[in-house]
Formats: sequence, structure tokens, C-alpha cells
Amino acid sequence: MTEIPRGTVQQQTFFDAVGGEPTFRRLVHRFYEGVAGDPILRPMYPEEDLGPAEKRLTLFLMQYWGGPRTYSENRGHPRLRMRHVPFQVDRAAHDAWLAHMRDAVDELQLAPEHERQLWDYLVYAANSMINTTG
Ligand code: HEM
Repeated sequence: MTEIPRGTVQQQTFFDAVGGEPTFRRLVHRFYEGVAGDPILRPMYPEEDLGPAEKRLTLFLMQYWGGPRTYSENRGHPRLRMRHVPFQVDRAAHDAWLAHMRDAVDELQLAPEHERQLWDYLVYAANSMINTTG
């Protein structure tokens, strides 16, 4: 049997498998279109322009799924729960956030296995961001 030299087998990341940066840009862009018109979420965003927030979430998700580490180069360790402390993330905010993500994920039309992986993560992450019963 021929040996495969160490380092030549490249495991494809989820980031690559779903189409790389353009896929994550589309996902988060669509998501923020939803946020822009949402009566619960829109007032929570401190900046008038949602563009910078859109960019941060895009870079975070790209990094999480095995893409470039630009998020951490710019922002340091994610510490997402801590970063959400200033915002009142209650059940209603959670539900609104996930509803816009659901729309955005649907639009990507990923392979069912990838869609499930992405969605399961978003559901889990959104739940862990709840910081008030309010
Ligand atoms: C559950 C409901 C959630 C609400 C209401 C919420 C709300 C917010 C708000 C108001 C901001 C500040 C905007 C900004 O300056 O970037 C923010 C930032 C952010 N959120 Fe969320 N979020 C939620 C869940 C999540 C989840 C599940 C993730 C990850 C999968 C996430 C990832 C991020 C990231 C990466 C940032 C930017 C952090 C930074 O670098 O400063 N959020 N979120």
C-alpha cells in the first residue's frame, strides 16, 4: 500500500464546503435586512449604520466555520456572551433573531446536511446568548 505523506491530505472545512466567504456574506446580509425592519431588534443596535455590525457577524461566522481568522485579528477573542451583556437578550429577542436567521439560511439553499449543521449551531448559540428573562 502506498503511504500518503503527512500533510498532503487536506480536510475540507465547512467554510469551504458551503462556498466560502460569498455564502457567509449572503447569509448575514439577508439576516440584517430582517433586523433593519424588526421592531424588537433594530432599537438594540447602538450604531445607526448596521454595516459594521453586519461585517462583524460575517467575519465571526466565517472564522467559526474554519475560514480566515480576520474576526479575531480585529476583535480579539469572541467572548460572545460577554459582548452581549449590554443588550437585553430575552426570549422575544432570541425568537426574532432566529426567525431572521431562518429566512437567511433558507435563501442559501444549502445541501440538507450542511443546512442542518448550520441551523443546529445557530439554535444552540442563540439559546446560549439569552441573558435575561425580561
Ligand atoms: C439571541 C439573540 C441575539 C441578539 C438579540 C443579538 C444582538 C446583538 C447586538 C445588539 C449586537 C451589537 C451590534 C454590534 O455592534 O456588532 C451584537 C453583536 C454581535 N453578535 Fe449578537 N445577538 C444575538 C445572538 C447572537 C448569536 C447567536 C451570535 C453568534 C452565532 C451572535 C454574534 C454576534 C457577534 C459576532 C457580534 C459582534 C461582537 C463584536 O465583535 O463586538 N449574536 N449582537
